[in-house]
Amino acid sequence: MRFIKKAAVAAVFAVTMAGVASQAVAQQKPDEALKMRQGLFQAVKMNFGPIGAFAQGKGALPADAAAKAENVAALARILPASFAKGTESLPGSNTKPEAFTSADFAKGFDALEAAATQLAAAAKSGDEGAIKAGVGAVGKTCKGCHDNFRKE
Ligand code: HEC
Repeated sequence: MRFIKKAAVAAVFAVTMAGVASQAVAQQKPDEALKMRQGLFQAVKMNFGPIGAFAQGKGALPADAAAKAENVAALARILPASFAKGTESLPGSNTKPEAFTSADFAKGFDALEAAATQLAAAAKSGDEGAIKAGVGAVGKTCKGCHDNFRKE
């Protein structure tokens, strides 16, 4: 019960943050939007990293793995707003310009959200095989997008 409650709180927080983030973007300068984008990816890494490490046999499954995976799904919903107009050609951006006009790029975040949601379900079930498969599916969406749309 306690665990479920925690996950629910994390989900509500994530949804609230999504609202805050999209509002903030509307008032944000391009360099602020870029900072937010890179910070959101750091948050993706922070939440996904420990589950990925478990899948690679490099650590225990985090007790809050399901909540972490749900956070990744929420971040995938927030991220598109951080690729706002005016951030295409900032010197600090590691995004290839074509990402801003590509439908595949937008779909990449949908794929990440779907895979992270599945991973959360697997984490709740406690089925190690399903968790490892879920990590693989999430990791594929990271790599697929980075290969195509992130600068070297
Ligand atoms: C749909 C595309 C897409 C997906 C999916 C995606 N990324 Fe990225 N990622 C990017 C792009 C583009 C950048 C470069 C951002 C920039 O600097 O403009 C990036 C940057 C990053 C960074 C560096 C952020 C910084 O500090 O500059 C990390 C870490 C990262 N991604 C982790 C991940 C992980 C982990 C996943 C999967 C769980 C993931 N990404 C999924 C496109 C994606």
